[in-house]
Amino acid sequence: MKVLVTGGAGYIGSTIVSALEDAGITPIILDNLSSGRREFTQNKVFYQGDIADHELLKRIFAEHSDIEYTIHCAALIVVPDSVRRPYEYYHENVNKTLDLLKYLNELGCRKIIFSSSAAIYDDASDYVVDETSRLNPRSPYARTKYMMEMILKDFCLAYDMKAISFRYFNPIGADPKMRSGSYIDSPSHLLGKLISVFEGKENTFYITGTNWDTRDGTGIRDYIHVWDLAMAHVTAVEKFDEVFKSIEKECKVSDPYQVFNLGNGKGTTVREMAAAFMKVTGKELNIKETEAREGDVPGAYANAEKAKHYLGWQTSLTIEEGIRDSIQWSQIWKSRKED
Ligand SMILES: NC(=O)c1ccc[n+]([C@@H]2O[C@H](COP(=O)([O-])OP(=O)(O)OC[C@H]3O[C@@H](n4cnc5c(N)ncnc54)[C@H](O)[C@@H]3O)[C@@H](O)[C@H]2O)c1
Repeated sequence: MKVLVTGGAGYIGSTIVSALEDAGITPIILDNLSSGRREFTQNKVFYQGDIADHELLKRIFAEHSDIEYTIHCAALIVVPDSVRRPYEYYHENVNKTLDLLKYLNELGCRKIIFSSSAAIYDDASDYVVDETSRLNPRSPYARTKYMMEMILKDFCLAYDMKAISFRYFNPIGADPKMRSGSYIDSPSHLLGKLISVFEGKENTFYITGTNWDTRDGTGIRDYIHVWDLAMAHVTAVEKFDEVFKSIEKECKVSDPYQVFNLGNGKGTTVREMAAAFMKVTGKELNIKETEAREGDVPGAYANAEKAKHYLGWQTSLTIEEGIRDSIQWSQIWKSRKED
């Protein structure tokens, strides 16, 4: 079986590509390398180009008429950048997805798995969100994800397509076999900051905000190993029709568009993450506590029961394994860049 993976040269897309290959499924990568890495596509079927390039899509499907699914990961993804350049984000993510879906429908590929984001949820008083929780996308980036979900839903209803939107929580780690991983130079997320302090690029790890109403006062997030995330896509491809059938049977409604949270369902606070990091590395880090920054939110974690129930998927790797693989990959990536 073949699966088109847009954005397959990126951090998450490349991990999905490896997971598909390991499961005996052939990924066909479409990526314009605007941020993705050519080296992640080595020895794979790779088309360099844009998701909205009609001629290229026609060629891909002519050369691989047995593509049954599209996993759509390609997007611009940096939240502060989206605030500065909303045109580019709406254009690249929304407009081009609109075209991509139109062409996929034309080409007969009507089973879609979409990379959505937990960034579209509103704050929840108990910090846990399920797929029916209130939405409130608060950046141009998050709004593009929300709009793409809406478009996908309408396409499913109108054009006999079926789609699964996966709302990712906070991916960490790298492919456990170290074939690919994150390639951002200065990651601004929590684990990236911890690694920067560990590697001596920064002196101090700042915990910003210690008065939230969480179990230890610090913010809470749901970290998910990128390999677990990738495996959810493999499961979705393998059980696609079955999932829709069992939802229809249990819920007595036929809905061709389904949303699933992908998280570990537990939540980890900033203090817990820093402690886990120091346990994994065996190194005490210099930590300082400061006030929350403007715009900071306490965070949320996933209720991931729907994915467990219908996909039979749940996380299998721990936060510690995510930290270990992130550090190992960061060292491999650094040495590759120095060569
Ligand atoms: N990384 C996260 O924390 C996170 C969280 C939630 C959701 N997501 C979503 O997961 C997906 C993958 O994210 P990632 O972290 O791997 O990002 P990434 O930047 O590493 O990968 C995105 C890939 O898409 C490609 N691309 C972008 N625009 C394209 C276009 N018009 N045509 C063809 N290729 C294009 C880029 O070159 C890149 O390889 C994105 O849709 C993102 O919104 C990511």
